[in-house]
This record gives sequence, C-alpha cells and structure tokens, in this order.
Amino acid sequence: MTTAAFRPLVPVSQVDEGQMIAVDGGQGFSVLIARVGGEWFAMSDLCSHLRAPLHTGSLVGHRLACPLHGGAFDIRDGAPLCEPARRPIETYPVRVRGGVLEVAVPQAATPEPGFEW
Ligand code: FES
Repeated sequence: MTTAAFRPLVPVSQVDEGQMIAVDGGQGFSVLIARVGGEWFAMSDLCSHLRAPLHTGSLVGHRLACPLHGGAFDIRDGAPLCEPARRPIETYPVRVRGGVLEVAVPQAATPEPGFEW
C-alpha cells in the first residue's frame, strides 16, 4: 500500500457497533467501513475472488463473509480466512477527528482487474 493523506469519509454516528457500510472513496472506488469492538476498520469493498461488494456480506466479530461464495476475510488485516478467497483485501489506515472517520485511501487505489479461480 502506498502512503496517502487522510480524507474524511463518514460521520462516526452513521455506523453502529458491529455494522459495516460502503462509502465513496473517490475515483469511483468503494471503501468498506466497519466498527467492531469500538475500533474502526477500512478496506476495499471488492472481494478478491470475483469482486462481489463485501459490505453486502455478513460481519461476525472480525470475520467478514463474502455474499457470493462463502469466502471470508479478517477485517483487521484483510487476510483471507477460507476458500475460495485466497488473496487478501487491501486495508487502509483510519482515524477519528471531530466525530468524522478519516481514511487514508491511496489516490491510485483501484481494484485489480481480473479474477481469481
Ligand atoms: S466473490 Fe467473494 S468469495 Fe467469490
């Protein structure tokens, strides 16, 4: 991941504990925001398997399950937890300033094209 400036993406009041949403990270890039255990997490919203929107999956603790084929990821570091997902999801640094969640999304953050079989 390249270094990026923090950008305000969403008021913290819009995400409840244990929930996740997708927000516009710029350049048409969707960022998944999750709040678990009082901590904030941000990652690409596209599954590394066949690019499903991960925010429509399910979140149990730190385990994020993809809505399409059951692949799962750890939202703390994007690591794949089970097949068919094999590649990690890119994660981004977060911080809270004045009630707003800021995320350091690289300007060049664009999901990789192609599929993983
Ligand atoms: S698209 Fe996510 S596991 Fe297949």
